[in-house]
Amino acid sequence: MTQRPLYSRIIGTGSTVPPNCVTNQELAERLAARGIETSDEWITARTGIRQRYFATPDTMTSDLALTASKNALCAANIDPQSIDLVIVATSTPDSVLPSMACLLQHKLRLRNDCTAFDMQAACTGFVYALTIADQCIRGRMCRTALVVGAEIISRLLDFDDRSTCVLFGDGAGAVVLQASEQAGLISSVLHADGSHTDILCVPGRVSGGAICGQAFMSMDGQAVFKLAVNLLEKVALEALDKAHMRAAQIDWLIPHQANIRIMQSTCRKLELPLEHMLVTVDRHGNTSAASIPLALDEAVRDGRIARGHTIMIEGVGSGVTWGAAIIRF
Ligand code: UT7
Repeated sequence: MTQRPLYSRIIGTGSTVPPNCVTNQELAERLAARGIETSDEWITARTGIRQRYFATPDTMTSDLALTASKNALCAANIDPQSIDLVIVATSTPDSVLPSMACLLQHKLRLRNDCTAFDMQAACTGFVYALTIADQCIRGRMCRTALVVGAEIISRLLDFDDRSTCVLFGDGAGAVVLQASEQAGLISSVLHADGSHTDILCVPGRVSGGAICGQAFMSMDGQAVFKLAVNLLEKVALEALDKAHMRAAQIDWLIPHQANIRIMQSTCRKLELPLEHMLVTVDRHGNTSAASIPLALDEAVRDGRIARGHTIMIEGVGSGVTWGAAIIRF
């Protein structure tokens, strides 16, 4: 007997940011006290960022992941015991071992035999994690997945480096993905090119009981900018092509929220009106793997995204990694 085609659909979204909001002006004052010059004008004009949220030292990434997940499970209105797959996309896990996904599984008191693992694809992490979860569901390995993007990127920031420390913020977003006979995730494409490792990296490693090498983020902003603009257009077209769709059929574009200039460039290249792009970078800064699910949840909760809408998510990050997915909500 042939099996009916199976899809995965998002049945709930959730997110959170830590309570400590830092405006550009406040950040500029903090940096000035260290002899570093920056301004609200520069940050706003070059990036579109006006503020970001920083976690306090006693907050762990899994705490943010837990709140976002609880919100998503509540929105999905399902028994948490039905979750049989947990994937956490993060570059800032609580610890080297065990994985964030196992920590989260335990904190949520999920079934103690589900599949749980982390996804490290930097800012593209959520696109990767969602795609893998979709494949696990379509392959009938599991039925209901919790997919999370969670970061405390501020722990990797060198506050003596104005070219990176003004860009990032902390937060988490989550979705519950469930097997369905209706199309949810329509197409997705994932890529990586490890020849660009040095333009965006945190090269430090744990060895001999200590951190060896630079444990701060370093970035060649212009090189990443040029790559991002190019790759995001290409991957969006690839995902559309795979779905046999045109850009005009996309209700909402949710790009990784790194820089408004990169985001607007993609939107223009796709000839999508800017009103069809979700923007949270102004309030969250770049939250890496959390940025897409944060923006998604915000728009679901305020009613801009409604059932039946077609969404494109896309991201680029360290690696470099890049990817896009088209979702029928
Ligand atoms: O999430 C992963 C993906 N990451 C990204 O997508 C980030 C991609 N890159 C970018 O978003 C941009 O390249 C940046 C926002 C990082 C930088 O913007 P830019 O327009 O490329 O500026 P720039 O690096 O060319 O720097 C221009 C000037 C420099 O001064 P000079 O050499 O012209 O005198 C910098 O030293 O701006 C200076 N500058 C700053 N000035 C005030 C750099 N950072 C700051 C700052 N405040 N925070």
